[in-house]
Amino acid sequence: MALLKSSKIISSVGVYPPLGALSVRASSWWSEVQMGPPDPILGVSEAYKRDTNSKKINLGVGAYRDDQGKPFVLSCVRKAEAQLAAKKLDKEYLPIGGLGDFNKACAKLALGDDSEVIKSGRNITVQTISGTGSLRVGASFLSRFHTEARDVYLPKPSWGNHTPIFRDAGMQLKAYSYYDPKTCGFDFQGALNDISKIPAKSVIMLHACAHNPTGVDPRPEQWKEIAELVKKRNLLPFFDMAYQGFASGDIDRDAWAVRHFIEQGHNILLSQSFAKNMGLYGERVGGFTVVCKDTEEAKRVESQLKILIRPVYSNPPMNGARIAATILNTPDLYKEWLGEVHGMANRIITMRELLVANLKKEGSTRNWQHVIDQIGMFCFTGLKPEQVERLTKEFSVYMTKDGRISMAGVTSGNVGYLAQGIHTVTK
Ligand SMILES: Cc1ncc(COP(=O)(O)O)c(C=O)c1O
Repeated sequence: MALLKSSKIISSVGVYPPLGALSVRASSWWSEVQMGPPDPILGVSEAYKRDTNSKKINLGVGAYRDDQGKPFVLSCVRKAEAQLAAKKLDKEYLPIGGLGDFNKACAKLALGDDSEVIKSGRNITVQTISGTGSLRVGASFLSRFHTEARDVYLPKPSWGNHTPIFRDAGMQLKAYSYYDPKTCGFDFQGALNDISKIPAKSVIMLHACAHNPTGVDPRPEQWKEIAELVKKRNLLPFFDMAYQGFASGDIDRDAWAVRHFIEQGHNILLSQSFAKNMGLYGERVGGFTVVCKDTEEAKRVESQLKILIRPVYSNPPMNGARIAATILNTPDLYKEWLGEVHGMANRIITMRELLVANLKKEGSTRNWQHVIDQIGMFCFTGLKPEQVERLTKEFSVYMTKDGRISMAGVTSGNVGYLAQGIHTVTK
């Protein structure tokens, strides 16, 4: 108000431009800002929403749906919420590193009940803003302290957000062969060849299970060779575990690669997300772990993680971490959760089989075995961009241009229609 009055007075004596001119000038602070491209996945959802076809299917977004195509809240989550509500807990700030009970349970879930690392206290685990926040904390930590090598090697292809996360934190992105379009499977030899040339001390990003976007994971014996090579090359392994339990339905089986690397002496970095396996997407629950040489190193690393986190978001949100901690630390809820994770993974596995069976029923003679062999939420169908375009235009089936479909969006109600569409555009 005082500013308005003084502007009027100034303009009335004719020394400064009138208020109107001032507001025009103020609105041009960002005239140099270019329009950015829309997010490729969220763009797919927008187009889906606009489509009026009653048979439309959205296979773009990686969020689990039940067999009616509806978002799914786990029963153990509802129960944990009820228990927490009854406790009438306060809403004070969490510590910078998050909820202690959550952090301990989060590390135990990934590293295992008998983890030597946890027993000897040489890990530091902080609560983060889901998997994305965890990766970003990790990327910032690398950027500040892993100064001998700036390169992060991603599998080709990798989750779309890996590149901006590491790039924005000041790291440089490189890639190693991973997916073989000819077999729609793992290019094991290509990966070994490329990894064997990665300069020492570089960071190698590994998807712990249910690789996104391809759904292609190395087998245990292949992981063993990769672990050996990574050691021989003296690389720093950074595991992204966004789908523990979601691949096979078994949380221990899905953490096998992470645990194997640790057993082989790798001091890994690890990102965890509870978005998918607990269905806590919007609660933003995750963890970031650094496995260190010893407790003393872990303490030093912890102090620096706190220094990194404090100016970014000060401390993480509490609600989701309380839910996850309640489930992980309450035996009957934990048991129920294991059953529900298994149920979600199983529904996806069943949909893979049903899709292939329906493609055969439609008369497709192509080999769709990869749809069954791939694992986790996503399937890299092998559809070409022009086939994806037709599928969207003619059948209102929405997916990313790379031919990735979220199997979680396939239901027993829409799988027949989907198969009909895929067969039409691929015959
Ligand atoms: C490979 C991978 N990493 C990390 C994430 C992080 O997800 P969020 O931040 O929702 O936990 C995702 C989610 O799609 C993912 O696919």
